Amino acid sequence: MRSVIDILDLTVEEITDLIATADDIIANPAKYAEKCHGKKLATLFFEPSTRTRLSFEAAMYELGGHVIGFSEAQSSSAAKGESIADTVRTVSCYADIIAMRHPKEGAPLVASMKSGVPVINAGDGGHNHPTQTLADLLTIHREKGRFSGLTVGLCGDLKFGRTVHSLINALSRYEDVRFVLISPNELVLPEYMKTEVLERKNLTYRETTDLEEAMPELDILYMTRVQRERFFNEADYIRLKDSYILTPDKLLNAKSDLCIMHPLPRVGEIAGSVDDDPRACYFKQVLYGKYMRMALILKLLEVA
Ligand code: NCD
Repeated sequence: MRSVIDILDLTVEEITDLIATADDIIANPAKYAEKCHGKKLATLFFEPSTRTRLSFEAAMYELGGHVIGFSEAQSSSAAKGESIADTVRTVSCYADIIAMRHPKEGAPLVASMKSGVPVINAGDGGHNHPTQTLADLLTIHREKGRFSGLTVGLCGDLKFGRTVHSLINALSRYEDVRFVLISPNELVLPEYMKTEVLERKNLTYRETTDLEEAMPELDILYMTRVQRERFFNEADYIRLKDSYILTPDKLLNAKSDLCIMHPLPRVGEIAGSVDDDPRACYFKQVLYGKYMRMALILKLLEVA
């Protein structure tokens, strides 16, 4: 029984296989329509979600399986004070696989230690979000055909943005990936990510506060939302929330094959007028997330 709590729980070879499976699902969806017949996925969401929860659910339905779960802590026994451990032991009696999102860093890891079935981390606080990274990797792979040799700009809330942390971890395993970290000084990438990941692996990176200055060199621009729910103080959020707003004029010096990504939801970081630019990939990214979750469910349930 295998859980995925961190993107590094999957080897590079396994990620290559998941991408190949997702590509095959896209090409031959009918082949997969009954693969999870009789299986149940439980979605345990203690934090808000649109894409992650619904794409997990759509993924399971498209594999012929069923879905149970809850979408807010208030409607579960967590509201009565039940521990994660007891909740997950209970749910493993009903479901074959669990996707869990929780505001506390490490909660899905604790759950995986108590669960009788695989647990997938669907986002834990400001820490990790491995299945968003799978969506991101499929997007990059389908757009660029490779990971190596890319210059990746990560822009916005690099401090609390869990999608950024997981994506850096994933890309750190490929050759010659360069990172440009674009954020206000208050929202820079956590020190542990710089020392434990970027510096330990001798990756090239630089930090800047200026998106337009960085634009010309980027192959990927990964925009993120300022994570309001992780701030201690609303005034700081309000001061920082509009630090970066991508508009068509800011793309004038960008590469013609730039890939613009965002895990969504956006709350102003990308103007609607960018959506018609052929370089905007964020809605493809949403769709690809479903296919990668299908591939991951098949893998963890060991369905051939
Ligand atoms: C992200 C998350 O939950 O971390 N959303 C998502 O899953 N697509 C990004 C965010 O909330 O800003």
